[in-house]
Amino acid sequence: MIRFSNDYTPEELMQIVDICMKALRSKDMYTFAHSERVGRIAEQMAAGLQLSNEEMNVCRVLGKLHDIGKLFVPNAILRKPASLDEKEWQMMRKHSDDAVRILSCMHFMGKYMDVVKALHERYDGKGYPDGLEGRNIPLAARILAVADSYDAMTSDRPYRKAQPLEYVYAELVSGRGKQFCPQAVDAALVLLEKNMRKPYAVVTESLKKLIEVHSPIAMSLPLIRPL
Ligand SMILES: [Fe+2]
Repeated sequence: MIRFSNDYTPEELMQIVDICMKALRSKDMYTFAHSERVGRIAEQMAAGLQLSNEEMNVCRVLGKLHDIGKLFVPNAILRKPASLDEKEWQMMRKHSDDAVRILSCMHFMGKYMDVVKALHERYDGKGYPDGLEGRNIPLAARILAVADSYDAMTSDRPYRKAQPLEYVYAELVSGRGKQFCPQAVDAALVLLEKNMRKPYAVVTESLKKLIEVHSPIAMSLPLIRPL
């Protein structure tokens, strides 16, 4: 029986999230798989930052739902095997407004809508829609922004192959404190270094040098710096 109440059980909430994910899966397999991964990556980053169980759950669930607005982006744009032109980019960017529109219909999301709205903000204040800066951006949104980029760079896209680990590491480091929250980047670097230990990982000499410089900073997470 449907209850019109704020008191959803965790199981009921997950059923609603699963319905959204099924819709995304039938729309576009890449976007579905990307969203699942972003949820997992963001949750692992939150664990690395020693956040609470609730914050880890928020990162996982909103990671899954962060691209739900892409349900309204035409497949010809979503799956285009080449760069998008300006008009197509405009249609693609609309997905963030659509995500806010869809998720704000779910009244249990109310508490987290500030996170959903801030997914495209940048740490240096040059993002959108509100140009929020630094810690004015909700922490989960700062984590999700890094997790989203991390997965986009480490997975094959219709128009290019996954980027080498060295490239991903360098991009995260160069965005640290500019596009991205420094602590969130550090949490992602720690994850990336774990992935480098997998047998198929290509670890170049220049990547080892990058790690030598940046790893000690990342590994000092999270206690010495406030979030
Ligand atoms: Fe995404």
